[in-house]
Amino acid sequence: MPSFGPLRVFLIFLAIQLAVAQTTLQNPKTIPSQIPNHDAILLGTDWYPEQWPESRWEEDLRLMEAAHIKVVRIAEFAWSRMEPSEGHYDFDWLGRAIAAANKHHIAVVLGTPTAAPPAWLTQAHPETLRVEEDGRRATHGNRAHGNASSQVYRQYCRQIAGQMARRFGKNPNVVGWQIDNEYGYALMSYDDATRKAFQEWLGKKYRTLDNLNARWTTSYWSQTYDSWSEIPIPVGPHNPGLMLEWKRFVTDTWNDYQNNQIEVIREFAEPRQFITGNLMGFFDGFDHYVISEPLTFVAWDDYVGSGHLDPAKNGLSHDLTRGFKQSNFWVIETQPGAVNWAGINNFLNEGEVRAMAWQAIAHGADEVGYWQWRSALNGQEQYHGTLLGADGTPVPLYEEVKQIGQEFASAQEALRGTTVVSQVALLNSYDSRWAIQFQKHNEKYDYVALLKSYYRPLYKLAQAIDVVSPYASLSNYKLVVAPDLNVLPKELADHLLDYVRAGGHLVLGPRSGMKDQFNSLLPQRQPGYLVDELGARVEQYYALDEDFPVSGEWGTGTVSTWAEQLEELTPGSKVLMRYGKSNGWLNGQPAVITRAYGKGRITYVGAILDDNLMTTAAEWMIRESGVRAPFATVPDGVEVSRRTGEGKDVFVLINFSAQTRRLTLPHPTRLLLTNRTSSVVELSPYGVEVLQVEP
Ligand code: GLA
Repeated sequence: MPSFGPLRVFLIFLAIQLAVAQTTLQNPKTIPSQIPNHDAILLGTDWYPEQWPESRWEEDLRLMEAAHIKVVRIAEFAWSRMEPSEGHYDFDWLGRAIAAANKHHIAVVLGTPTAAPPAWLTQAHPETLRVEEDGRRATHGNRAHGNASSQVYRQYCRQIAGQMARRFGKNPNVVGWQIDNEYGYALMSYDDATRKAFQEWLGKKYRTLDNLNARWTTSYWSQTYDSWSEIPIPVGPHNPGLMLEWKRFVTDTWNDYQNNQIEVIREFAEPRQFITGNLMGFFDGFDHYVISEPLTFVAWDDYVGSGHLDPAKNGLSHDLTRGFKQSNFWVIETQPGAVNWAGINNFLNEGEVRAMAWQAIAHGADEVGYWQWRSALNGQEQYHGTLLGADGTPVPLYEEVKQIGQEFASAQEALRGTTVVSQVALLNSYDSRWAIQFQKHNEKYDYVALLKSYYRPLYKLAQAIDVVSPYASLSNYKLVVAPDLNVLPKELADHLLDYVRAGGHLVLGPRSGMKDQFNSLLPQRQPGYLVDELGARVEQYYALDEDFPVSGEWGTGTVSTWAEQLEELTPGSKVLMRYGKSNGWLNGQPAVITRAYGKGRITYVGAILDDNLMTTAAEWMIRESGVRAPFATVPDGVEVSRRTGEGKDVFVLINFSAQTRRLTLPHPTRLLLTNRTSSVVELSPYGVEVLQVEP
């Protein structure tokens, strides 16, 4: 068993208090995802009363209340029940469902049903159905078949959302709204009207065709456009400038699509009702920083799919989601054991669902909702995990979820007003991610995996990481890591340099500083506008088909997939790692260079390092930047996270290892889940404890 000496813990605890005092001050007083007059953290489920006889609702709600479920999301696919024929609305059943939930102290989030337009609408107005890339119209009967850019479709969406808000915008038991469902997976229509809208959008942005032709270098392959109407929607590989603008157009289309509904809901809804959307973690269909902007707070759907919870991957996804608005969030859907859409829909182990729920809270979620309560008897998702069986009685997992509910209720007051505060930021850029994906150059190059390779060791050491847009304010961070900042225009370079000049440590990963905002190559070597300040540049990049050795200050190991040959340009820059004997070009050449600049430092890592090297690299970054973890070192496999607020400091410990782990604390501490005060915490596999520490 790894040692966890009490003296060491005590010293770290003391040191922590300083760091805590420093960081708690930044916390907002109110947190939009915590609903006034409700528990600060909520257990929820996704319920479809329209699929069941009304006589059954009471029993469903009784079982929910018994499991400490405090919120349901409903109606997000019920358009044909709410508007059975054009202009004829039936909301009475929904009003009764909301009232019945209220009787059981269960609040309601209403979803707008626009991910599932009814047959009467799509048949009468075929242009409301998406046209696929191959020119065929989507057929009715699946979901996300609506055409997000169709003005006709938008009009119908506005009508139904407006009617719902008119009816329920002042309902005391409706706490908020969800727009659409997963924003139609960002699927676009490839019809003429959408193409024209794209061309007009480009016209507004570029103003002249000369400008557009120059930015995209259209003299290449005779791509020159003489009229806006000639510009295609890219299907398959295309001009990188055009492809990046299409992604931005997709983002704006879905943003307009949601704003169309948000506006009308806001017209009728009381301001206390929040508006959210259910995002999908690392899904890259649109720029999530843009889509999150008009929402009160963001929610996401957290599914493991095949296999088991990967704590680093899932923690990273939570932190990514928290970074969309730099605020707490909801996990409005998560799997009750298993899904139905993966290759192998295995069930999570006993205890794993609970560990997953607590990991969400630990990373800043204020609600965890199980999709779904009970499976519809027919429809495409009959095999998905649920909390009730087809017979309407609890499945074995129900008891575990009930335990989660009980625990949320006992810890919620301690967590009220708390959020995650970090000294380390990872930068995530949709422009860079897309630009790399369009031209991976090595099929093994994986943007998210690279982010995760930094996140895993850094999280272990820092115990909190914010994942934010490169344009976010960076002044609160001691360390900012940009694993893959491929698109790095001048304005962004200036923003990063301001951070470094003021004392921050910026770490750039491979492929950084190569492109401008039009996805054109910069007429400089990498990292582009940062070459002078780094005092070094990339001489050549290499896609690798084999691993190469590398060694230096971070130890000895290998690089794979990608390696860049760096060159020092000033004596002030220091080589930290060099390649060993490899392809000749890289032999003995610098792989990592660092340089003090202003009051801070810039480090460039030109390769993808193996896991052991990433660990020592992370240790160096943390040390060099003066980052201090808020808790003591914990045994391997245990994740420690902190939520903090005014006068509050709460640590969540989760054991993701297969062995029992025992921790000795420096003094007796309040343990919220086992409801006792002790200086010993024993965590079985998937075990969780929540510590309330006096700040
Ligand atoms: C998505 C959807 C839900 C449901 C689940 C199943 O997240 O939002 O409606 O289909 O997947 O995992």
